[in-house]
Amino acid sequence: QSTNASRLASRAPSRAPSVAGIGKTAAKPDYSEAKIVVAMVGLPARGKSYLSNKLMRYLKWLEYDVKVFNVGQYRRKLAREKKATTGARDDHSASFFNPNNADAMGMREKMANDCLENLIDWLKQGGNVGIHDATNSTMERRQKLAERIEKERGMQIIFIESVCEDPSVISANVAGKVSAGDPDYNGMTPEQAEADFRRRISHYEAAYEPVNEPHISYCKVINVGEKVVCNLINGYLESRIAFYLMNLHVSPRSIFLTRHGESMFNVEGRIGGDSDLSPRGARYAQALPNLVRDNVGNVPLTLWTSTLKRTIQTASNLPYPKLTWKSLDELDAGVCDGMTYEEIEENYPEDYANRDEDKYNYRYRGGESYRDVVIRLEPIIMEMERQNNILVIGHQAILRAIYGYFHNIPQEEIPYIKIPLHTVIKLTPKAYGCDEVRYQLPIEAVDTHRPKPSVKRSDSTASRSSKGV
Ligand code: ADP
Ligand code: F6P
Ligand code: PEP
Repeated sequence: QSTNASRLASRAPSRAPSVAGIGKTAAKPDYSEAKIVVAMVGLPARGKSYLSNKLMRYLKWLEYDVKVFNVGQYRRKLAREKKATTGARDDHSASFFNPNNADAMGMREKMANDCLENLIDWLKQGGNVGIHDATNSTMERRQKLAERIEKERGMQIIFIESVCEDPSVISANVAGKVSAGDPDYNGMTPEQAEADFRRRISHYEAAYEPVNEPHISYCKVINVGEKVVCNLINGYLESRIAFYLMNLHVSPRSIFLTRHGESMFNVEGRIGGDSDLSPRGARYAQALPNLVRDNVGNVPLTLWTSTLKRTIQTASNLPYPKLTWKSLDELDAGVCDGMTYEEIEENYPEDYANRDEDKYNYRYRGGESYRDVVIRLEPIIMEMERQNNILVIGHQAILRAIYGYFHNIPQEEIPYIKIPLHTVIKLTPKAYGCDEVRYQLPIEAVDTHRPKPSVKRSDSTASRSSKGV
C-alpha cells in the first residue's frame, strides 16, 4: 500500500494546457498529458450519474476527450448476453445487491473491473478523462481501483463521492429514477419498482464505507453541494474538476438568452463594432420587459449584459439587477471589425475561405476564434452554474458558445447554431439535459445567420493571397 508521501511523489501533476496558434487557425490545446480516472462513489440515487454527465459536458466543452463508463449498463449488457446463451433470467432485483449474496458480489466486482479495464484502454488510445460511474462504496473496491491505476504511468485517479441523507432529496431522486423508466425495472409497476429500489439502497447502506482514506485524491460533495471537502487535489485538471463541483447546485431555475435588439450594424450587414440599436431594435428593447415578466413570473432574476451599447440599450427598460461583463462582448473580428461579409471576402479572400473551412478554429487577424471565445467564457459558465435565474443579453457568437455548453453541442456545430434576433430562449437544466422554449417577438429583424457553404470553394479562390496584411 502506498504511503501518502510516495503517492504524492509519484504523481505527475497535469499542467495547464497551452493554447497556441496565431494567424488563420488556432491550434487545439494540447491535452495529451491529461489522463485521469474519475471514480464516482455513493449510494444509489445520490446523483452519481448526474454528476458524471455534467462533468463530461463541461470538460468536453473545454475540448477534453471524456467518456462515462457506467457499470450498471455493463451489468445489463452482460445479463442480456447470458440470457441469450443460457436462457438465464436477467435479475436486477434488490437481492442481486445484497452484500451477503456471494455470487452476485463476485459478478459485481468483475463487472466493475472489466469496466475499469475498458476505461484504461480508452485512455491509452487518447482519451483524457474516463469516468467510472459505479457505487465504489467500499474501501476495498476503492483500494483495488487506486492500485490498478497506480500501475499505469501518467494516469491519476480521483474519487468523487456524493453524500446526501436528506430524505426529501432521496425520495425525489428515487421517484425520478422510477418514473424515468429505469431499465432495471422493466415490467414492474411504479410501486413495485420504488419498493425494490429502496430495498436495493438498504443493501448498499449495510456495506457502505464513506470515503475517508487519507492517501487518495477525493472530492466529497455533501448535501447536494452545501459543502465540498477536497483531499489531495493537485494538478490543473483535478483542480478544475473540484472547482466545478463546488459551483454546482440543483435548485430549479432557468437561464434566458437573448441577443440585443437589431443594431444599425446588423441592418447594414456589418460585423462587430459598437453601434446603437436600430428603430426596430429599440422596439424590441421596449417590448422585452413584458415578455420576460410573463415568462419568468415573480421570481428573482439577474440581468447580464456585455459592455457594448447594443446590449446595454436592450436592457435599459428591464427592472432587474444588472451586471456588465467584458467577457460577454462579441467575438472580436480583429482587422475585419466593421466590415460586411462581402468586404471581408474581397479584402481577405484567403481568410474568408479559411473561416468557412473551419469556422470554430479560425482566428480573425488581430481578433478571436470561437475557441478563444469559449476559453474566455469559462468563468461565465462557472458563474452561471452558481446562479439562479439569469437573463443574458448577448451577441450571436457568444450565445452560440453558451447554448452549445448547455446542449452539449459538438464544437464544429457551435458556430452555426441559429440564435435569431428578437427571440428569447429559455433553457431549464434537467437531470439529463436541458429543456428549451423559444419566444419570438413579432418585430421584424434582419437575419444574420450565414449557413455553412455546402459547396467547397474552388482552390483558386481559396489560395488567392489576402490584401493588406
Ligand atoms: P445515481 O447515479 O447516484 O444512482 P442519479 O444520478 O441517477 O443517481 O440521480 C439523479 C438525481 O440526483 C437527479 O434528479 C439530480 O437532481 C439529483 N442530484 C444531482 N446531484 C446530486 C447530489 N450532489 N446529491 C444528491 N442528488 C443529486
Ligand atoms: O452579425 C452580428 C454578429 O454578432 C457580428 O458582430 C459577429 O462578428 C457575428 O455576428 C458572429 O457570427 P459569425 O461567427 O456567424 O460570423
Ligand atoms: C450497478 O451494477 O448498477 C453498479 C452501480 O455496480 P456497483 O454497485 O457494483 O458499483
